[in-house]
Amino acid sequence: MRRGDRWLANDPLVADRLRAAGDPLVVDLGYGASPVTTLELAARLRTVRADLRVIGLEIDPERVVPGRDGVQFARGGFELAGLRPILVRAFNVLRQYPESAVPEAWSRILSGLHPDGLLMDGTCDELGRRCAWILLDRTGPLSLTLAWDPFTVEQPSGIAERLPKALIHRNIPGEPIHTLLTAADRAWAHSSPLAPYGPRVRWRHAANLLRDQGFPLRPQRRRLRDNTFTVPWTTVAPLS
Ligand SMILES: C[S@@+](CC[C@H](N)C(=O)[O-])C[C@H]1O[C@@H](n2cnc3c(N)ncnc32)[C@H](O)[C@@H]1O
Repeated sequence: MRRGDRWLANDPLVADRLRAAGDPLVVDLGYGASPVTTLELAARLRTVRADLRVIGLEIDPERVVPGRDGVQFARGGFELAGLRPILVRAFNVLRQYPESAVPEAWSRILSGLHPDGLLMDGTCDELGRRCAWILLDRTGPLSLTLAWDPFTVEQPSGIAERLPKALIHRNIPGEPIHTLLTAADRAWAHSSPLAPYGPRVRWRHAANLLRDQGFPLRPQRRRLRDNTFTVPWTTVAPLS
């Protein structure tokens, strides 16, 4: 999840919205058995804006803990406990729900946001080596980001098992996410001569190959520790 935290703090759209917010409230929805990841999110995003308010919401009342380090915790679900945050992070929450529940869950969360608010619906494995997230605003999904540990995940499609619920059942031939992951694996294989320079150099080359083929990977403004890429939602939106 730290990969997602770093991305949020560095994404121009997210950072702009946090800086411009009259009430810079961030909600970590479904923070789980331990509030540590919420505290980490708060610490990371306070580098963007020091006066950020962070509230962790949990549907399970037994998981609600006393506040600490300036972060509050409370009971709440997709209705966001009536709060109007500028950003909601929901990691590994929707994956517990059926695919058919995603549109309704998104729409409930989005309707509770501040009008300029954003939702990050993400997933990762237990060790955080494979992460994927969708960024949405009130109009719907904006982008998909895939991030993986270049030293343990062998190829881009290794992320497939941790795709967000809206996409995980769509990694089948004919669906756009499958087309993207297949092309990413091919570009990765074609970049193998660069393997001696390390997986990050190899991935930068593979990402450029993908761009040459017309996949609109967002330009990366800075060097990242992870292998990561972001595409517009229109590139991966399920066919129906
Ligand atoms: C797998 S844990 C994820 C914890 C943490 N976000 C992480 O990624 O490590 C999912 C959590 O979401 C909570 N949850 C499930 N549905 C929810 C909902 N509608 N609103 C808020 N929390 C929910 C569960 O109680 C559980 O604690």
